[in-house]
Amino acid sequence: MMKSPHPYEQYTEQFAELQAPLACLNLDLLEQNAQEVLRRAGAKPVRIATKSIRSLEVLRYVLTLSPRFEGIMCYSPWEAAALAQAGFADVLLGYPTMDAAALAEIARFSSRAHRTNDITLMADGLEQLQLAEAIGREKGACFAVCLDIDMSSSLYGIHFGVRRSPLRTVEETLRLAEYVRRSPSLTLRGVMGYEAQMAGVADSVPGAAMMNAFVRHLKRRSGKDIQARRSRIVQALSAEGHELAFVNGGGTGSLGFTAADASVTEVTAGSAFFNPALFDHYAGLKLYPAASFALPVVRVPKQGIYTCFGGGYVASGSAGKDKYPRPIWPEGGVLLPNEGAGEVQTPVKYPAGGSAVSLQSGDWIWFRHAKAGELCERFRELHVVQGGVRLGTWATYRGEGWCFG
Ligand SMILES: Cc1ncc(COP(=O)(O)O)c(C=O)c1O
Repeated sequence: MMKSPHPYEQYTEQFAELQAPLACLNLDLLEQNAQEVLRRAGAKPVRIATKSIRSLEVLRYVLTLSPRFEGIMCYSPWEAAALAQAGFADVLLGYPTMDAAALAEIARFSSRAHRTNDITLMADGLEQLQLAEAIGREKGACFAVCLDIDMSSSLYGIHFGVRRSPLRTVEETLRLAEYVRRSPSLTLRGVMGYEAQMAGVADSVPGAAMMNAFVRHLKRRSGKDIQARRSRIVQALSAEGHELAFVNGGGTGSLGFTAADASVTEVTAGSAFFNPALFDHYAGLKLYPAASFALPVVRVPKQGIYTCFGGGYVASGSAGKDKYPRPIWPEGGVLLPNEGAGEVQTPVKYPAGGSAVSLQSGDWIWFRHAKAGELCERFRELHVVQGGVRLGTWATYRGEGWCFG
């Protein structure tokens, strides 16, 4: 694990009068992460992925850090409407929707008269466009649309990428773009080609040299494929007279690669700001653990094993040990293989011996979540720290009473 420049020991003092479980956001580390995002994104603007943040105040704060942080990529249509209502501009819904009621809500922000709070819908098939078109017609709205192009590669019989969009070819994309052009209720605004296999697969995992080498090889091969497909599609759209306001790509793990692609006009980043544990092992990515959470030790079943209250905040994705929260302080703690992170209780084991850790009930153990925004589904607020001072709390989506699934 990358060594944090922040002395976690200080947290114990700073948070002494509070009760755990609690979640903490260190703004000094978040700002360093923001600088790393900007550096890796070259000169391109960066759209902020809300799914990896899930706090209005954090989103607002990140947007103040640089004029190159521009626009939002959200994950739910109801969230898109709520963000527009809260004053966020240029909200791209990163995933398609078939929710007619949510589209009717979004229509309020999508009439031609309300250009400032525009929401852009994501689509990769006719069925999503037809639904949006029907709602648009009914509500007198014109929905901006972004087409999602599949960026996965087929290599050595492996599907290297995610199963999301069926749109792969120039012809398929032009057909949908033409459908949008002909509809008075739709307008084509952008194209997204998200290369999940570059952005979300670690390639520098300690103790896995062979696997790392293989993943990097796959990434090199897939990278050529991605650049060729994305630029072919963007050029074809332009040749057919489609004017794109943006071509979006990338995520935290692929910022350098994606920003270097001339056909991409903006990159997306979200996880980088909190830097959860899954992002510790990407070659060249230098991030700091800005988000963490503390659990109280409530019982000591055996010397060296401390059982905390809470902790079963396991991350989504293919189930595996890497999705568990990771104990980070005091250093040296590990979860028990038979219990993992429990629904109500989480035991953490420390090795016996010379520098043995000695805790008692009431002490805290600090953790990092494996993913970023999911942490905020477990806590109503983040305790914000800057310059060694506790600034107060910022509400998470959960604290706002928001739950978008
Ligand atoms: C469409 C899309 N873009 C970008 C990202 C990258 O987000 P992050 O920077 O949090 O990894 C994701 C993550 O899953 C995504 O689904």
